[in-house]
Amino acid sequence: MASHVVTLIPGDGIGTETSAAMQRVVEATGVDIQWDVAQAGAACIEQYGTPLPDPTIEAVKRNKVAIKGPITTPVGSGFRSVNVALRKMFNLYVCLRPVISIPGAGGRYEDVDIVIVRENSEDLYAGIEFEQGSEAAGRLIDFCEAEGAGTIRPDSGISIKPISVTASQDIVRYAFDYAVKHGRKKVTACHKANIMKYSDGLFLRTAREVAQEYAGKVEFNDNIIDAFCMNLVTDPSWFDVIVFPNLYGDIASDLSAGLCGGLGIAPGANIGKEYAIFEAVHGSAPDIAGQDLANPTAEILSAAMMLDHLGELESAEAIRQAVRNVYAKGETLTNDIRRTTRSEKPGCSCTEFTNALVAEIGRL
Ligand code: NAI
Repeated sequence: MASHVVTLIPGDGIGTETSAAMQRVVEATGVDIQWDVAQAGAACIEQYGTPLPDPTIEAVKRNKVAIKGPITTPVGSGFRSVNVALRKMFNLYVCLRPVISIPGAGGRYEDVDIVIVRENSEDLYAGIEFEQGSEAAGRLIDFCEAEGAGTIRPDSGISIKPISVTASQDIVRYAFDYAVKHGRKKVTACHKANIMKYSDGLFLRTAREVAQEYAGKVEFNDNIIDAFCMNLVTDPSWFDVIVFPNLYGDIASDLSAGLCGGLGIAPGANIGKEYAIFEAVHGSAPDIAGQDLANPTAEILSAAMMLDHLGELESAEAIRQAVRNVYAKGETLTNDIRRTTRSEKPGCSCTEFTNALVAEIGRL
């Protein structure tokens, strides 16, 4: 019996390639893990009638820890996001995304070290939507008018943005507890409370209240989201732990990934009180899928976060050190990194990169 059983959802698009690479690298550290492989995504619909079949849900429940590759979500119509469904189903209220420079990865800065803590359950991602022209949308439009809340054009589609005290307290507390545990100095709350007074205003008010519980231990400030974007690209060292409502956190994740060399290297985790699902920030990259061109670093670093979570700290650090070494040498790097570093050298394949990383782990 292995020390850890982990659910592996390989995903689709580049997910199958990055997940296979991740498995090889984790196994190279010698950690004793058994993969309980489960499927999700469009390919499941024919067999199960749903992109998120019961056996996959059961596998996550059984093992409590999962790692997944990206899953394609049809844009504008079709099934709702499997990723959002998993986050809701397992109450994974935290999306945790450390953003740390890897020298050699072509980042705009060499010393970025911030942690994005994104609320994962509500805001415009709650999935409460009213289709343009539907009877329900019409009733909602009439209701807003009758309440004096404002006029909405009759040909509008509507997405609802709920932000609760409960979820805001939970996420801000997580950000502060993370700061305390990891010796970080400051938490910044991002919002647009000047415009959305009842949703973002509530988030900010709650953040200020929670911050008082940590006074003297961790500093607190807030930033309006548009100013935050400018501040972050001007000088990321102004920030430490940053806590966001869902949508801004999503956008800020890609923005910060771009500062460090791109989506190919940005890891993440969805964490709840009972379950955790680790996954890269990037999507299924249909433009390069099936060509052995993906950069698997993001999923591999997500696996390192998973190993931390499982208490396998040495294996986790071995992966991070090997990644740093491969990037520092600069001999075997994928196309996305060749682009960000503006290098003339040809990019390597996902397999070649993985081989280099496995060899590096062997040399540590
Ligand atoms: P994307 O992240 O898949 O791709 C954006 C760009 O970055 C593309 O040019 C792609 O080639 C590149 N890229 C992404 N990851 C890369 C990697 N590891 N190595 C090299 N290049 C990489 O975002 P996009 O195109 O907006 O979404 C594609 C699909 O993925 C959509 O269906 C979307 O819903 C889904 N998605 C799934 C996520 C998940 O499962 N967690 C998260 C984000 C998007």
